[in-house]
Amino acid sequence: MTSRADVLSPEQTAFLVRQRVARLATADTTGVPQAVPVCFAYDSLIYIALDEKPKDVPVTRLKRVRNILENPNVTLVVDRYSEDWDLLAFVMVRGQAGLIRPGTGEHAAAIRLLRGKYHQYEKMRIEENPVISIRPKHAASWGALDAVEDAETFMDALLGRRSVRRYLDLEVPEEAVERVLEAARWAPSPHGRQPWRFAVIERKENKERLAEAMGEKWRANLEMDGQGAEVVEKRLEGSRQRLLDAPVLVLLCLYLEDLDAYPDAGRQENEITMAVQSLGAAAQNALIAAYSSSLDAGWMCAPLFCPEKVTEALGLDPELVPHALLTLGYGAGDPPKRRPRRPLEDLIVYRG
Ligand SMILES: Cc1cc2nc3c(=O)[nH]c(=O)nc-3n(C[C@H](O)[C@H](O)[C@H](O)COP(=O)(O)O)c2cc1C
Repeated sequence: MTSRADVLSPEQTAFLVRQRVARLATADTTGVPQAVPVCFAYDSLIYIALDEKPKDVPVTRLKRVRNILENPNVTLVVDRYSEDWDLLAFVMVRGQAGLIRPGTGEHAAAIRLLRGKYHQYEKMRIEENPVISIRPKHAASWGALDAVEDAETFMDALLGRRSVRRYLDLEVPEEAVERVLEAARWAPSPHGRQPWRFAVIERKENKERLAEAMGEKWRANLEMDGQGAEVVEKRLEGSRQRLLDAPVLVLLCLYLEDLDAYPDAGRQENEITMAVQSLGAAAQNALIAAYSSSLDAGWMCAPLFCPEKVTEALGLDPELVPHALLTLGYGAGDPPKRRPRRPLEDLIVYRG
């Protein structure tokens, strides 16, 4: 067992943010313990929503809340069980709990973080209740914290995945990135030619060069659109920060040299369209693999608008055509709204 005096190690933090359920132990002043399973989010502090409807039971009557108000010392255990005992692991955090009341910036940030992690909270009025916060004082852990687990089912991964645009400052293990790329390479492609190549960008100076190069083009486009100087600066800075803050960037490039050659322009164009279609399939494979490895990911289209600049900034082979960027990391909460989908009836236009 490893333990640290007051903070979580990077491995403990990465394990903690990837788990979806924890057990919270509280005790009243007489020392009688109570343990409950909880959903939680982490960003320096641990946050737990109180999702009971205010009219059913006032949240301050909940035993865990009463205990915290009487005695703020709590323990949170985040564990993983598997029939494969090589995957067993847990992190135990002892800390000081408190209640964050609605109406403060800290409360709003905690709600955003929780909704970013659990889409189910988007439909629940958790913002009307206080949020439990835990300041970690001591952490201990055991087992295979780094092991990669799969999302429970394919549909869980499809429905749980979403575009994440803010990340925690946590390193992504090399194996997790490889797993994402491994999934991408199993995408369908025209004639099985796999017309894509992946550039992995992790170093800050490379991200900066990329941001700079793409920013120039975007600035010109925004100015052409007649956007005010302030708006232009704000959007460019937002995009730059997004690139710098994501622990890993994967640039998806088309590689067209292996495609079939046709004498007529029409078929040649279709060949390229098929390559682009398959790049989309590779991207979706990567996004689902990321999610099922407990990573978050986002999609940025910026390279499509300035492929030559991107090639130059990264010193890539000119035969590669930069198309899209995937950001990878551990999400730090997202805008609260999950993008709604159209009803299936609207999408099916014909049943013969
Ligand atoms: C081809 C393509 C380009 C995209 N480009 C961007 C982008 O540049 N910036 C961004 O924030 N999201 C981008 N997205 C993500 C979409 O906004 C997102 O998938 C959509 O809003 C649905 O949300 P969800 O992915 O969370 O389900 C892109 C998605 C696709 C498929």
